[in-house]
Amino acid sequence: MYKNVPIIPLAVIGVIIAAITAGQALFIDWLPPADSVEAGRTFTLLWFLFWCSVVFFVIVTSVLVYAIWKWRAKDDDLEDGPPTHGNTTLEVVWTAVPSILLIVVAVYGYIVLERNEAVAADRVEIDVYAQQFNWTYGYPSAGIESGDLMVPVNRQVQLNVRARDVIHDFWVPQFGIKGDAVPGITHTLWITPTKVGTYPVVCAELCGVGHSVMRSSVHVVTEQQYAAWLAKSSATVKTAAAASAAAAKLETAPGDAAAGKAVFEAKCSGCHAGLGTQAGGVGPKLAGINWSDEQIRTQVKNGKGAMPGGLVNGTDLANVVAYVQSIQ
Ligand code: CUA
Repeated sequence: MYKNVPIIPLAVIGVIIAAITAGQALFIDWLPPADSVEAGRTFTLLWFLFWCSVVFFVIVTSVLVYAIWKWRAKDDDLEDGPPTHGNTTLEVVWTAVPSILLIVVAVYGYIVLERNEAVAADRVEIDVYAQQFNWTYGYPSAGIESGDLMVPVNRQVQLNVRARDVIHDFWVPQFGIKGDAVPGITHTLWITPTKVGTYPVVCAELCGVGHSVMRSSVHVVTEQQYAAWLAKSSATVKTAAAASAAAAKLETAPGDAAAGKAVFEAKCSGCHAGLGTQAGGVGPKLAGINWSDEQIRTQVKNGKGAMPGGLVNGTDLANVVAYVQSIQ
């Protein structure tokens, strides 16, 4: 039945097309190195799909090229070709083979997805916040935020990706994982980095004029380095919080008007005439303004108009508040 199949010309054409196609696949770096467990699985699936496509592309294109060359109509041939009947065997084959392939790919794809999204009990959870045009990372377990993403190697990282304004897209090419940051939604991604190093975090969704510069870095470090960084950052945050709480406590403590008068004389009387009791200075007369402690404190801390903020802090501030109250 197939004794008329022109094996040799088809084979020659097939080899040429296969060489060109395979060359494209092998000699161009299409994908970055797979530096996460998930990227390994995804890229393998991708190459499986690719090589299946190559096989069928070579078969179909070889037959097509051969047919065009062999049965090309002569220039003066205006006839219709002879009628042909269907070929049942061929039709069954070209239906069955793609169907089987489709099932294989669907099952393989499902298995990859299932494994890539299997949640590990010892995973590290990190919040990712996208906003025009930067990334912020929150570590809920340590109560800290950072502009760079720090993750331990060989451990699953769960990223809870959120957007603060418009749609962005979190992407680390080497990790093979990409996920949209959508306002109002938390998009969960799982990544298990396999290699210590620094990788780019890229925004992969056009999100405004600064889209192309919306980048940060992810540092994959050893488990020990990660724990040390977390402890250090957490301690820094706690120290800063404690310092600002202590400062706030000093500022709001009951002040001493006499001590406040001395501070006022040194820092404020240049503008507020008569130690704040007379009009005519750069600053207004303070006697009689009838402000609360909180209003005075806020004014001194933040400044307003021509008055600079932060001239007086801590206990001095509490004392100045007491002094201004005493002349009101
Ligand atoms: Cu954010 Cu593009």
